[in-house]
Amino acid sequence: MLLLWSAAPGSAQTNRVTVADRNVIHPGEIWKDNRGEHVQAHGGGIIRVRGTYYWFGEERSQDLDRSRRYVSCYSSQDLVRWTFRNQVIKLADPEGFGPRWILERPKVFHNAKTGRFVMYMHIDGPLPGQTGGYNLARVGVAVSSKVDGDYRYLKSFRPLDHESRDIGQFIDDDGTPYLIFEDRPFGFRIATLSGDYLNVEKEVCLIPLHLEGGAIVHYNGLYYAIGSALTGWRPNPNKYATAKSLEGPWSEFQDIAPPETNTYGSQSTMMLKVTGKKATTVIFMGDIWKPQTQWDSRYLWMPLEIGDGKLRLPEPKPWTLDIKSGRAAILK
Ligand code: GAL
Repeated sequence: MLLLWSAAPGSAQTNRVTVADRNVIHPGEIWKDNRGEHVQAHGGGIIRVRGTYYWFGEERSQDLDRSRRYVSCYSSQDLVRWTFRNQVIKLADPEGFGPRWILERPKVFHNAKTGRFVMYMHIDGPLPGQTGGYNLARVGVAVSSKVDGDYRYLKSFRPLDHESRDIGQFIDDDGTPYLIFEDRPFGFRIATLSGDYLNVEKEVCLIPLHLEGGAIVHYNGLYYAIGSALTGWRPNPNKYATAKSLEGPWSEFQDIAPPETNTYGSQSTMMLKVTGKKATTVIFMGDIWKPQTQWDSRYLWMPLEIGDGKLRLPEPKPWTLDIKSGRAAILK
């Protein structure tokens, strides 16, 4: 077998890796970027632009300026090897929210008509006079003319006048963009965006259940939605339901994995559909949060067993993805 020696730039250490290893996704392990650093894209999302995948997420490195909030962007051709592109958001408190302000779960949409990239994020923080908490419950919007450019913060608001904490992103096969948001008093909402993507326009559905970490995929004529229970950073049994249309009716929610595993210690952030020449793989993207050492939070990505109204997250094991064929293989 052909062996390669790879050295992370700037590091004295060399690692012996095989060619095959380079295409392996290792759920729960440190995921090194092209610089040899753990990918910082927590609570993230992925879009594909002209054949390249871009992964955006919360940048939580240890050496950051604590008054700012950061989003990093990475690119990949194969979803396995990631190149750091830019800290696309390095934002100081944009609206006088106070020192405990929060920016989480960034998601970027590409508006083909305007050519702009529009980032939605969960903006939060305590109410005036309080010292902590997630009470603002807003979404923020930032724009850039380049996918990995410096995004300009525009505004924050409550979508359709509802509270919004965790957000998720869904782009249907016809390109229609949707924002999924958790509205604490009522449930899990799915809404369309305005033509310029800068506003949340119309509600498509309210699922009256308390679910966050919302993710949706359209697979073989059915919509599958995943949500997590509201247990903060602690994992819980994530659940799924299906519907023929986004408006519903949605089926009963069921566990995506044996409930005692608490989603194998992870929480959903997105489902990514990879359609290749031979097969379609739907990837569950989850976060394994480490609230005391967030820079070390990990990713749990696995190919889902999905079809005919059923969805199952297999036990995490190393696996390979062949982006051309669309085939995933779990290594025994
Ligand atoms: C989780 C949420 C995370 C973060 C955390 C804070 O429920 O999914 O994004 O907000 O709570 O406790």
